[in-house]
Amino acid sequence: MHLACSECGAGAAADELFCDACGGLLAFTLEPAAFDGSHLKAAFRERRLSNDPLDTSGVWRYRELLPPIAAEAVVTLRENVLPLYAAVRGGAYAEARNASYLHLGMNPTASFKDAGMTVAISHAKSAGARVAVCASTGNTAAAMAAYAARAGIAALVLVPAVGISEAKVAQTLDYGATVAAIEGDFDRALEIVRALDPRRFAIVNSVNPYRIEGQKCAAFAMLDSRDWRVPDWIVLPGGNLGNTSAFGKGFREALALGLIDRLPRIAVVQAAGAAPFARLFENGGELVPVRAQTSATAIKIGAPASWRKALAEVRTSAGTVLAVTDDEIADARAVIGRDGIGCEPASAASLAGLRRLRNAGTIGAGEDVVLVLTGHVLKDGAYAARYHTSSASFANPIRSAATDGALRALIDQVLAVRA
Ligand code: F0G
Repeated sequence: MHLACSECGAGAAADELFCDACGGLLAFTLEPAAFDGSHLKAAFRERRLSNDPLDTSGVWRYRELLPPIAAEAVVTLRENVLPLYAAVRGGAYAEARNASYLHLGMNPTASFKDAGMTVAISHAKSAGARVAVCASTGNTAAAMAAYAARAGIAALVLVPAVGISEAKVAQTLDYGATVAAIEGDFDRALEIVRALDPRRFAIVNSVNPYRIEGQKCAAFAMLDSRDWRVPDWIVLPGGNLGNTSAFGKGFREALALGLIDRLPRIAVVQAAGAAPFARLFENGGELVPVRAQTSATAIKIGAPASWRKALAEVRTSAGTVLAVTDDEIADARAVIGRDGIGCEPASAASLAGLRRLRNAGTIGAGEDVVLVLTGHVLKDGAYAARYHTSSASFANPIRSAATDGALRALIDQVLAVRA
């Protein structure tokens, strides 16, 4: 594995964050010729029977394909052990017969960030870092705080002072991080973090290539649990676009290693008020940042850092990028809830996007589609509560049962529905 600039190809040292020559993002490159695919598959499968913490992690189980980090430095919370659920109501809602949810919200801190954070914090620990820092809309903050706590590294997070989920901030505080609420949005917070000296701080936003290496393991874990059967499409929400670049990298590597025989197509879904990548995909050229506005606060991002990497992955996979409205996200999220699954608003962009792509005929009714859910329903309980007191089509308000009579009437109603 070697580290180089993802844009100009110049080599880079392991403790750098941006390319010396052009300022581009760094990325690890794997040498597929060094591996035997069938041997790897057997080893990955065997590790599922083991109780070694490295084997029970859905990241470190794939350690041959990660940057080398000494086992003693590894900080793991058994992340990236991921359920795939049939999308029954969600599939019907989108008129897709063969859709499933890959729930990355079923992680130790309840979002997909844990898969990347275990690698980034383990690297920081092995490099002797004392302070980890990130900009966040909430989930990166919680993940960094948890892994830094386990590593004995101090954690400082920069979050927008307004408009992020209270539950995520509370969770981050619980893990002992220092939370700095800045004036400005996520894009401003990331600007501040990017200007810090990476020799003094371990910067663990997804501009950190170790994060991407961990997150690409979600692609491996998904394929592994499908016995390496490749879906036709994978649909995921896009914000800063680190996760899109990670999934794309994972699939390309799986193909190069002979673990799979083709690439799934990647569909990235943005919120309409925070959709500079969707606009770029349509119009071409360079990314034009926007002032982001959406109630899906996790993806309220106007200047995504990883757009070049993500664009390359979408194009390589013959994929697509689209935007959906906040109302579409809200209704799709409620439908996912009724599948007995649930997720936070940003995650539901995937189902809202699938519905659009089915309507447009881009995705066929019988195609095999994996919808990526990035965060747990409890990440934003306030949003769910608001939704159910609004008049939206899938709302489910709390009924009044202040008297015995009212309660009995309600019980009769519920029984009538069940009969
Ligand atoms: N879904 C959720 C729940 C997220 O928290 C994020 C990003 C995304 C999707 C988008 O992923 O940035 O890789 O394209 N959250 C970051 C954070 C920005 O700070 O927690 P992306």
